[in-house]
Amino acid sequence: MILVFAVIGCKKDETKKEDKYAFVVPANFPAPVYTFENNPVTEAGFKLGKKLFFDPILSVDNTVSCNNCHNQSLAFADLSLHPFSKGVEERQGIRNAPQLVNLAFMKEFFWDGGVTHLDFVPLNAIESEFEMDEEIGHVIEKLNADPEYPALFEQAFGSSKVTTPLMLHALAQFTTMMVSNNSPYDKYLRGEAALSEHELEGLHLFEQKCQSCHAGILFTDESYRNNGIDTAFTDLGRARITAFDGDIGKFRVPSLRNVAITPPYMHNAKFASLEAVLDHYINGIKPSPSLDASLKNGIPMTPSEKTAIISFLKTLTDKDFTQDERFFRE
Ligand code: HEC
Ligand code: HEC
Repeated sequence: MILVFAVIGCKKDETKKEDKYAFVVPANFPAPVYTFENNPVTEAGFKLGKKLFFDPILSVDNTVSCNNCHNQSLAFADLSLHPFSKGVEERQGIRNAPQLVNLAFMKEFFWDGGVTHLDFVPLNAIESEFEMDEEIGHVIEKLNADPEYPALFEQAFGSSKVTTPLMLHALAQFTTMMVSNNSPYDKYLRGEAALSEHELEGLHLFEQKCQSCHAGILFTDESYRNNGIDTAFTDLGRARITAFDGDIGKFRVPSLRNVAITPPYMHNAKFASLEAVLDHYINGIKPSPSLDASLKNGIPMTPSEKTAIISFLKTLTDKDFTQDERFFRE
């Protein structure tokens, strides 16, 4: 059972082509946080957002697009092998690009929660010297002078004048549609498929050992915590936003959906494999003042419990999402 959330101008007839571009809330998901009332998804808006997402015109030297660091085959995480995403002139940032998934349901963005509305996320990427290093005003000039964009903005928003808010709305129409809810685990929850005994054992262990933070259907409680990956932090994490010393070294609990296909792991890309992440929780936790109290003694797991948890985590890989043709480059 699925709920159609904000379908403006679409009939309920499921066979109609427009319905592919309606934002749909999966039955077992919470209500979306994204403000669809100001920016309902339409086919023209989604397609314009997609064109912008794949277009290096957003970067200073027209070389880097959003897709450079967010690739669909990896649930929109970074395809490249280096730990930190590379922007213009191969410049490296300080953080691992997260996957883009279920963004419409998230309250805050980035590893430190520094952006509180999805619309504004691209401004950061466009203006960051490590990413696209471009000025937003100049991007808007380039888009207005482009032979194709003004007509596409007209189709999507009824105005051929490209503006920053409209460009951000188009990108958000594309990114809010990145909903992942068709993994084998989701199919198991809906009674459409079974998990193996080993996977189920992993699920039960996960519920005992991990779910206090990686909670609920989104696999994150959206809190900021220090899970012991360092004793001292050059990247201050949540404290960069709150300027509170007690938040040094705290980072947003990431969703674990599609986690098997999104290495490396952690904000600083410290671990290359899920094995290494679990070994960290077993006996690699490093002390520091903000370390989460529940992790002080690590999370005990036997070798066979560890492999069961990894098998469960692999059931969170959603091929319907990574192969969803609506997101393909056109
Ligand atoms: C050079 C690589 C790079 C490029 C290009 C890039 N991003 Fe990102 N993206 C990142 C990194 C790194 C982060 C995490 C930033 C942080 O936590 O400080 C991120 C975070 C995000 C997030 C937040 C995800 C979350 O769960 O918090 C969204 C949404 C996003 N990017 C969308 C975009 C869009 C849209 C574009 C194009 C306008 C884009 N990105 C271009 C590297 C990149
Ligand atoms: C006390 C809260 C807490 C508990 C319990 C916890 N985690 Fe985490 N987890 C975090 C935080 C916070 C991060 C991000 C840390 C960072 O990047 O600095 C994280 C990151 C991860 C990542 C990396 C994801 C990515 O995209 O980079 C994986 C995988 C992970 N945890 C798996 C687990 C598993 C499996 C368990 C149970 C054995 C577990 N976690 C228990 C808080 C927790």
